[in-house]
Amino acid sequence: MRYRLKSITKTTEGENKFMAEHNLGDSHQVFDGEGKTFTINDKHVAIFNINGDLFAFEDACKHMGGSLGKGKLEGNLVACPNHGWQYDVTNGKCVTENECESGCRVDTFPVKTENNEIILSLPE
Ligand code: FES
Repeated sequence: MRYRLKSITKTTEGENKFMAEHNLGDSHQVFDGEGKTFTINDKHVAIFNINGDLFAFEDACKHMGGSLGKGKLEGNLVACPNHGWQYDVTNGKCVTENECESGCRVDTFPVKTENNEIILSLPE
């Protein structure tokens, strides 16, 4: 993994955050229809590939911290491998409404590919 450059990014909550871009290597390591977990500076991040589009969010279920990157993906939804809470990988929102509080979600992070490499932005 290579540290690249810094940028200012507006988060989904509308906040401006100082972000650092991280090159995670070959984009083909995240297969279409699957997820993978990466650890960057002790932060665990799940990245999913849906039809070639990448989505990144914190790899910790809001229930008891299960690894969402190891969950099964169906459409846009990933199920936590521990107890099955489901999250929309496109926005991090938990859709298991009878279990989690309304608005429960995991933090999402900007991710893209450049020259077939994964570029992930994380707040500093
Ligand atoms: S830890 Fe994810 S559903 Fe329980």
